[in-house]
Order: sequence, then C-alpha cells, then structure tokens
Amino acid sequence: MSFVDAAQAHGRKTGQIKLHSAADFEPMRRAGWLAAEALDLLTPMVKPGVTTAELDQFAFQFGMDHRAYPAPLGYRGFRKSICTSINHVVCHGIPDNKPLRHGDIVNIDVTFILDGWHGDSSRMYIVGEAPRRAERLIEVTYEALMRGVAAVKPGATTSDIGAAIQSFAEGERCSVVRDFCGHGLGQLFHDEPNILHYQPTTQNGKKDPGAPLKPGMFFTIEPMINLGRAPVKVLPDGWTAVTRDRSLSAQFEHSVGVTETGVEIFTLSPRGLHQPSDYRPQA
Ligand code: MF3
Ligand code: CO
Ligand code: CO
Repeated sequence: MSFVDAAQAHGRKTGQIKLHSAADFEPMRRAGWLAAEALDLLTPMVKPGVTTAELDQFAFQFGMDHRAYPAPLGYRGFRKSICTSINHVVCHGIPDNKPLRHGDIVNIDVTFILDGWHGDSSRMYIVGEAPRRAERLIEVTYEALMRGVAAVKPGATTSDIGAAIQSFAEGERCSVVRDFCGHGLGQLFHDEPNILHYQPTTQNGKKDPGAPLKPGMFFTIEPMINLGRAPVKVLPDGWTAVTRDRSLSAQFEHSVGVTETGVEIFTLSPRGLHQPSDYRPQA
C-alpha cells in the first residue's frame, strides 16, 4: 500500500486517475492471476518452522519461472520480493530467517509485474492454530475487504469504499488503520487514486465525497484492521509498521477494475483459497 499523503488524502487530487481501455483488462487479469496463484501455492508452505525468507525465495523463483518481476524487490530500497507481516505487524514486514511459530498469523503480500502490468494481492495465513480472537480478526478483515469491493461500481465514489469498510470493521469492535491506503495501479505500482479504508472528512468536518468511480479505473483495496487501537509506528528499519498498542493486525488485498456495471476482481484465488477458513479444517 502507499503511504497516505496527507495533502492528497484530504485535499483536491492534483493527479489524473487513469481510465484504462477494455483491452487493458486482459493483461491485468494475467498479472492478477499470477499474484493469486503465488498466494495459493504459498498456502501449504506456511507451517511452524518455515522462515519468511524461504517464502520470499519461493516467490522470487515463482516470478522468474513465469517471466514476471516481483515489484517490491528494489522498490524504494526494499530488498525482498514480498512483504510478510506477522501478528502485530500491520504491513511491510521484511522477510528474514526467523522461523514462523505455531499460533502466528501472517499476511503475505505479493506484487508481480507481468508484461508491464501489476498484480497486487495479499492474504492472511494461520501457522498451525491461532487463538479464536485472531481467527475472528482475520474473518472480520476479509469481510471488510469484500464489503469494500462490493461498493465499487460506476457512479459510486472512492469514499463509499472506505465507508463500507469502516462501518463494518468498527461495528465488529475493530479499528481501521489510517496511515496506509489502497492505490491505483496498472502499468504503475502506486498511482492515483488513493483508496482510503475509512470515510475521510473535509477540513470543515463534512464527509469528503472522494472521487467518482468510472469504468476502466484499476486500483487496490487493502484494509488493515486492528483488534486494538488504530495508531501505528514504523520501526527503525524504515519499513516494518506495527500497532502502537501491539495488538494483532490483519490485512487482505485485491486488485480490481471498475467495469460498466460494477467491479472485476483480478486477484481471485484460482483454488478458492480466499481466507484461512477455506483451507483449514474446522475443529
Ligand atoms: N504490495 C504492497 C502494496 O500493497 C507494497 C509493498 S512495497 C514494498 O502496495 F516495498 F514494501 F514491498
Ligand atoms: Co497494494
Ligand atoms: Co500489496
């Protein structure tokens, strides 16, 4: 996700929101599929003892095997191919040689550039079994993402997406991270518009209407939801964002396109592995 630029998040957009052609949906489908396929293949690898560096290495090789470049690698000095964000890490966790532990929850965020187009998606994984409150946070976060997706159609606005996510998540007694947002993408990784995951307000306290959604807009929706309070801080490595209260945080991300009638999700799981409850047998 991109860092929220306060001037842009609350002011008038200066940039242009690109409207892609019908033909541009095809390479986005391929890039999105590749990201989703990688997340599917990572699913059985997420077990106690595996290191996030091993998951990163798999994703790098997967990209190479498909003539795709992992967009994070070298992006603003990031030195890995994926982000792995464990427990109270909100986003942008850096893969390392520490083994995952039973009970951890981890977000894996992949972005591949295929034939010049970006597919960006993330999911939560559970290492072994997690406490019920962690499972609930993951379920709430997935549902929040899908409510945001369901708000996408021509004539709605970017603010409708954030409002749908916020009202659901806060109704579940969770909080929405304010410091990072979804983003336009396509041939660029992070472009206009910013997709906030809450309803922004203008300077005089009114609801910010946001930008109208139009067919051909491509962007991500990627809410970060905390069990505790919303504030985050970035660790001295310059990347790893954590909850200030050290409460658990979860995130899911899809890349989507606005169609004539609604929305197309580019990063749907080929195997239906949308969230942990789809691939973990219920006790
Ligand atoms: N994939 C992240 C996003 O959703 C961005 C990661 S940038 C990195 O936008 F440099 F941290 F990898
Ligand atoms: Co993103
Ligand atoms: Co991402």
